[in-house]
Amino acid sequence: MGKRVIAINSSKRKKNTYGILKELKEKFKEQDIHIDILNLFEYNITPCVGCESCVRFDKCGLKDDTEKLMEILKSYDGVILSSPVYMGNVSGMMKLFIDRTAKWFHRPELVGKPIMYVVTTAASGINDTTKYLKGVSIQWGMMPTSSITRTVNTIKKDIRKEEYSDFINHLKMHRDNFKPSLNQLIMYQVQKVLAIKIHEIDRVFWTERGWNNSIYYYGKIPAYKKSVAKIFYNMLYKKVKKVEN
Ligand SMILES: Cc1cc2nc3c(=O)[nH]c(=O)nc-3n(C[C@H](O)[C@H](O)[C@H](O)COP(=O)(O)O)c2cc1C
Repeated sequence: MGKRVIAINSSKRKKNTYGILKELKEKFKEQDIHIDILNLFEYNITPCVGCESCVRFDKCGLKDDTEKLMEILKSYDGVILSSPVYMGNVSGMMKLFIDRTAKWFHRPELVGKPIMYVVTTAASGINDTTKYLKGVSIQWGMMPTSSITRTVNTIKKDIRKEEYSDFINHLKMHRDNFKPSLNQLIMYQVQKVLAIKIHEIDRVFWTERGWNNSIYYYGKIPAYKKSVAKIFYNMLYKKVKKVEN
């Protein structure tokens, strides 16, 4: 069966960013990959109130569509996150949604799914915006892949296969063949130490999956990277105080 991908559009306008998603939808059909485009503006997302109840108790008091959106993301094989650059970074709508996924930093639920990024801008902010989205998706446990970026000067340019082939390769690849970057391994160690030391709910989640004894969720990791990750983990483990709760 063909793979299914969810593309999140965080602009209200169905113009530059959305246009790229629509074009990708057509192109991916040739590869037997189905894209559904989801417009965040058609959902009710309330700003996070900072209670940390999602992190600590896996419960959120805000009654809106966020939980539904998170379930939608979990049900697909891969994700495309897209945003126009607003004031140097993602749109407010994208940030609203991302803030509400804070529990996934502690208990990642998109582990093993590839992700790609689409960012459009008049001129500036592409690097910061793409880097931010990539960082978030690493915290969600995903496999970061391709990015497609356009400015006002390049928006009409055709999308080339090289711009998205890494995403397709990862969609088709078994996750055991994934090669995490050092940055991903380091973030994993941070999340692992916090899971082991801070909240019981995270400790249980990580232990059930055997992640507490792993160097990464999945993938092929060369010995030198393993060593660096282990050294970093041991240092951090000593520094972080255990919280009894
Ligand atoms: C509120 C707002 C802030 C923006 N901030 C920037 C910016 O910081 N840098 C920039 O080059 N373009 C900026 N832009 C331009 C948009 O990023 C650009 O037009 C984008 O392609 C719009 O995407 P859309 O057609 O999908 O809405 C901004 C536009 C708006 C409405």
